[in-house]
Amino acid sequence: MKSAVCPGSFDPVTYGHLDIIERASAHFDQVIVAVLANRSKSSLFTNEERIAMIRENTKHLPNVVVDSWYGLLVEYCRTHGVTTIVKGLRAVTDFDYELQMAQINYQAARVETMFMATSPTHSFLSSSIVKELAHFGGDVSTMVPPNVDEALRKRVAGK
Ligand code: PNS
Repeated sequence: MKSAVCPGSFDPVTYGHLDIIERASAHFDQVIVAVLANRSKSSLFTNEERIAMIRENTKHLPNVVVDSWYGLLVEYCRTHGVTTIVKGLRAVTDFDYELQMAQINYQAARVETMFMATSPTHSFLSSSIVKELAHFGGDVSTMVPPNVDEALRKRVAGK
């Protein structure tokens, strides 16, 4: 069985992430969405909340599972027998960082990274932008699914 991991902090998941996950699921027997810690970002949602939001929006994809891991991505891959990472590339601004990560992960564990071009309709989207908009009362309903929109509103309101 050929599996791939779609890693990210998903804080929270956006339509951009979901587009990549769905498209990846058409090319692999199993896609594992791995919620990981990105130590350079502070999080708004707990791991459990992020997982629940992703599960709700991938339940129509039978070969997608959602998991979390605290540690190196390559350790997750090694432990679960996965040799392919799939990541979305939005624009050239993503490239330097993603290339570095791909090279580190290959060097460390011979795990390959495959990049998928983000759909142009989502190329400006990021979890950080969504959080910033939501924080100041902006409308993010075209950027995230309804359950994420609702969770953002509640979190911003302090609930
Ligand atoms: O959605 P993000 O924040 O761009 O995802 C980045 C993430 C979580 C995939 C990356 O930070 C990661 O792989 N974190 C786990 C620790 C790790 O393996 N770091 C890379 C080697 S230094």
